[in-house]
Amino acid sequence: MARCWQSILNIIMLMGNIIFRGAAMPKVKDPLLAKKGERELEWARSNMPVLAQIRRRFGRQKPFKGLTIAVALHLEKKTGVLLETLAAGGAKVWAASCNPLTTDDSVAAALARRMEVFAWSGQSQQEYYSCLNSVLDSKPDIVIDDGGDLISLLHTSRRELLPKIRGGCEETTTGVRRLRAMERAGRLAFPVFAVNDAYSKFLLDNQIGTAQSTLDAVCRATNSLIAGKTVVVAGYGWCGRGIACRMKGMGANVIVVEVAAALGAHESGMHRALCALYEGYRVMSMRQAAREGDIFITATGGKNVIDAQHFKLMKSGALLCNAGHFNVEINEPALRKMSKSVRQVKENIACYTLKDGRRLYLLSEGRLVNLARPSGQGHPIEIMDGSFAIQALCCERLAKPKCRLAAGVLQVPREIDEEVALLLLKSRGIRLEKPTQQQMEYAASFEEGT
Ligand SMILES: NC(=O)c1ccc[n+]([C@@H]2O[C@H](COP(=O)([O-])OP(=O)(O)OC[C@H]3O[C@@H](n4cnc5c(N)ncnc54)[C@H](O)[C@@H]3O)[C@@H](O)[C@H]2O)c1
Repeated sequence: MARCWQSILNIIMLMGNIIFRGAAMPKVKDPLLAKKGERELEWARSNMPVLAQIRRRFGRQKPFKGLTIAVALHLEKKTGVLLETLAAGGAKVWAASCNPLTTDDSVAAALARRMEVFAWSGQSQQEYYSCLNSVLDSKPDIVIDDGGDLISLLHTSRRELLPKIRGGCEETTTGVRRLRAMERAGRLAFPVFAVNDAYSKFLLDNQIGTAQSTLDAVCRATNSLIAGKTVVVAGYGWCGRGIACRMKGMGANVIVVEVAAALGAHESGMHRALCALYEGYRVMSMRQAAREGDIFITATGGKNVIDAQHFKLMKSGALLCNAGHFNVEINEPALRKMSKSVRQVKENIACYTLKDGRRLYLLSEGRLVNLARPSGQGHPIEIMDGSFAIQALCCERLAKPKCRLAAGVLQVPREIDEEVALLLLKSRGIRLEKPTQQQMEYAASFEEGT
């Protein structure tokens, strides 16, 4: 009820501002939370040494002077440090969340003191899109997206803004897939760096970050023991393999579910299934795994990975959650249809009582479990130091006056990917040796065919 009134109030305020000011005013849940948000930001800042270094340089060089950056990212403390870094570089920053459930309201309140913020947790779909539209009202030069909603909006109902856009960055696998589809259809109007596809992003954020934050969110939401449980992980990509590994480390019996489908130029679900098998997991179809699992975690980027046919087979008490980008991996509408009642039993946990009396528990409405508040706290800070350093450096590349990049999905330049990896190592006091002259000559001899 309270959420409903909050939503009505937000819409009235937004409409009022559109009518009276011609634009929506920055909007957060509660400005009084700013003090708490400042403490959160301070903690993140003090654990993000790579961004701190970039921020100092940006502060001197002002690469974004005169430019506006519109952002749709999960709005929490680590993202806040990225936004401050861009602002230190001279950018006007307008920010919304890329997901209706993942805003940290205290951080949003703190950031709203110094930049334009349109985000609160628990948004309706309509409010979510209204906030994305609000950040686009800034007439941005650069956009940063996570999942592709902002860039998609630009190419549909906000096309008048396209000529001014220099380029963008995309944070996640699903967003990059959407952009590639637009590129194939000849519909992508500006260059976008696939930040997701930087090797250090795959390796650290998708694999290590999603693993720890998913485990953390499941434990926080449920307070349940992982050891001795059967955990079914759907998708053995970067995210899934990290989750499987950490769950195994906690003492779970892990089952991996993959599909027989091609993935990119060389890989397939079959290769990944084999890899999971040889890494010591049981591998099977979701139909088989459905009967066995105590905890189900999807991380595929696909749709209806867990569907009505699987709910029918599950044990009473099974927990279902999703770590993939969109809330379509677990078919919640089908589950609701099969249930005689649905009840919120705890923050982040809904109980679906099926007509035969079995109970299935869905975490965080089937949205990104590791980011949906309050149990989802997002990736560890150090992981986001790396991912957001890549974002900041790609934005700097787009801002360069002579930067003329063709429209399309672009790989993150190798020097940026490697610079961030090096800075992360340095921040932990690790210095790697260069190969000796003799070693380099030996390696070169193969390349020259001698
Ligand atoms: N939760 C987070 O913080 C976070 C972080 C990064 C990425 N993501 C998201 O997680 C998802 C996965 O990302 P990734 O980088 O691991 O992608 P990926 O492409 O490396 O892996 C996905 C895997 O899922 C498999 N798959 C597809 N459909 C399946 C099905 N029906 N059943 C079982 N397996 C299936 C594919 O074969 C593939 O191996 C994406 O939506 C991405 O945007 C989430």
